[in-house]
Amino acid sequence: APKPVSLKDEEDDDAVIAAGKTKVTIFYGTQTGTAEGFAKALAEEIKARYEKAAVKVVDLDDYAMDDEQYEEKLKKETLAFFMVATYGDGEPTDNAARFYKWFTEGNERQPWLQQLTYGVFGLGNRQYEHFNKIAKVLDEQLSEQGAKRLIEVGLGDDDQCIEDDFTAWRELLWPELDQLLRDEDDENATSTPYTAAIPEYRVVVHDPAVMYVEENYSNKANGNATYDLHHPCRVNVAVQRELHKPESDRSCIHLEFDISGTGITYETGDHVGVYADNCVETVEEAARLLGQPLDLLFSIHTDNEDGTSAGSSLPPPFASPCALRMALARYADLLNPPRKAALIALAAHATEPSEAEKLKFLSSPQGKDEYSQWVVASQRSLLEVMAEFPSAKPPLGVFFAAVAPRLQPRYYSISSSPRFVPARVHVTCALVYGPTPTGRIHRGVCSTWMKNAVPLEKSKDCSWAPIFIRQSNFKLPADPSVPIIMVGPGTGLAPFRGFLQERLVLKEDGAELGSSLLFFGCRNRRMDFIYEDELNNFVEQGALSDLVVAFSREGPQKEYVQHKMMDKAADIWNLISKGGYLYVCGDAKGMARDVHRTLHTIIQEQENVDSSKAESMVKKLQMDGRYLRDVW
Ligand code: 2AM
Repeated sequence: APKPVSLKDEEDDDAVIAAGKTKVTIFYGTQTGTAEGFAKALAEEIKARYEKAAVKVVDLDDYAMDDEQYEEKLKKETLAFFMVATYGDGEPTDNAARFYKWFTEGNERQPWLQQLTYGVFGLGNRQYEHFNKIAKVLDEQLSEQGAKRLIEVGLGDDDQCIEDDFTAWRELLWPELDQLLRDEDDENATSTPYTAAIPEYRVVVHDPAVMYVEENYSNKANGNATYDLHHPCRVNVAVQRELHKPESDRSCIHLEFDISGTGITYETGDHVGVYADNCVETVEEAARLLGQPLDLLFSIHTDNEDGTSAGSSLPPPFASPCALRMALARYADLLNPPRKAALIALAAHATEPSEAEKLKFLSSPQGKDEYSQWVVASQRSLLEVMAEFPSAKPPLGVFFAAVAPRLQPRYYSISSSPRFVPARVHVTCALVYGPTPTGRIHRGVCSTWMKNAVPLEKSKDCSWAPIFIRQSNFKLPADPSVPIIMVGPGTGLAPFRGFLQERLVLKEDGAELGSSLLFFGCRNRRMDFIYEDELNNFVEQGALSDLVVAFSREGPQKEYVQHKMMDKAADIWNLISKGGYLYVCGDAKGMARDVHRTLHTIIQEQENVDSSKAESMVKKLQMDGRYLRDVW
């Protein structure tokens, strides 16, 4: 296979033009790697279909060092695609944040992108209020700034089958690209039909005497220690305890990471990303289904033995040689439902023809309904699916490249303030545990890990994890005398515990604190009123003016935080009118949506205005950064 053209700078651009090729740039904004995978798949397909195309896949963050460079480079693009995910409360992914801010906030610009033809595909989830916001805004802005839209923005919905949405969007794209990229001398030709190759690492099995290589998690403070998604820091678990009372049949863990001496810094309200291992049972089951011993020592490579590339769409390999046990624990997502691409890869390695047929059907357009029922709605994990097709035992190079996605870090709102506990990052984590439609007991990977974590308090041989900080804009007002209202039921309390710790320190330092109101909600005082003593203490110490708790399962009727908010409507509106901030943290689909409606109602009633006026007042609060949400 010819080596893909790689473009690094302007000389490469010139080379592309000299070779009579057309440069195609595919940008991605990815959080969990799906958008990146789509970008690479699109690149492969464009390369295969159009000889004329010189395709480059670019991480939006890596594209430019600063705003000027974004502008300079973007001006020179002529054909570009943007694969961008939206997450949280309608936010861009971390690697797209800088570009997105610059591109969408410069709305004073004259149209300046006339030379550019573009397409946008978004990755989002319809269950969320701001479905695909980033893709929609980017698509609009590109057009407003003068670029030519080649194809309608694609709105991928991860609640259903996002791969199907991507396929459908690509089908619309080819006729358009045929116009631009097919060879002129081939008047009637359309692009070559294309079947994606199954990506695969080259695997080398090592003698067990070879030492395995540990991932290089740095944890030494140096002058400019910066940790991120790709460079996490290894830290110990210092403290771990259960927050629910014995009567509760659920579990919520308080965990403290020891960050002393690491150079990690964070601010109150930030998030921590945690890489956790799969539990032993899951790992053992996976090895059994693969038919490989857990102690097998192997390494994976993206290059062939002759030095050529084994596949440019492969994610970078994990550190190896490594035992299968560790690879499965640390790098493989085994409990999510498999993507269709994974089923295709399994089908290719099923030795039983009937199993291969069934797997192919499930991943085909005709099998759409069955896939959405049998896989997605049933929440069948990858391991459950593999158990149903025992003859499909893909080799490890295929398994890690095409079947099991890379295990992703989990994000938590940090529940401490660095001013209160300088060397610690606190996490408040509800255990994800419960039956799925197939009767499997689903155990969340990271919460299960936290539940089983052994803290330094209890053993020198304590648990540790690679972590990194993700900044957020969920921050206290710069002026501590500004009133604040916090709404956080369940683990939505987490960032507010940090806020209150911070206010305690501010108060001790002599600051004048504005009033503060906290709405917390849980099922029952005797079961899941987490941090009860601490919250009462914040009130006693004057860091919190008023603690209001809604118990949803104590009386005959559900009492939720929003009901308590209605009781205090006048107080709330009074504080907001005085310049106060409103913060909401917790479940996006239920609670945050209902609280949003309640805010709307409160404004309507208190100000005696109609619904649309109230709506614009809510919008204004949001625009002013005085109504902030940290929701998931
Ligand atoms: P429930 O489980 O009894 O329905 C923390 O999870 C608290 O939030 C629980 O008391 C839970 O009540 C409550 N809760 C569930 N759905 C909610 C919603 N839509 N709005 C506000 N609180 C909700």
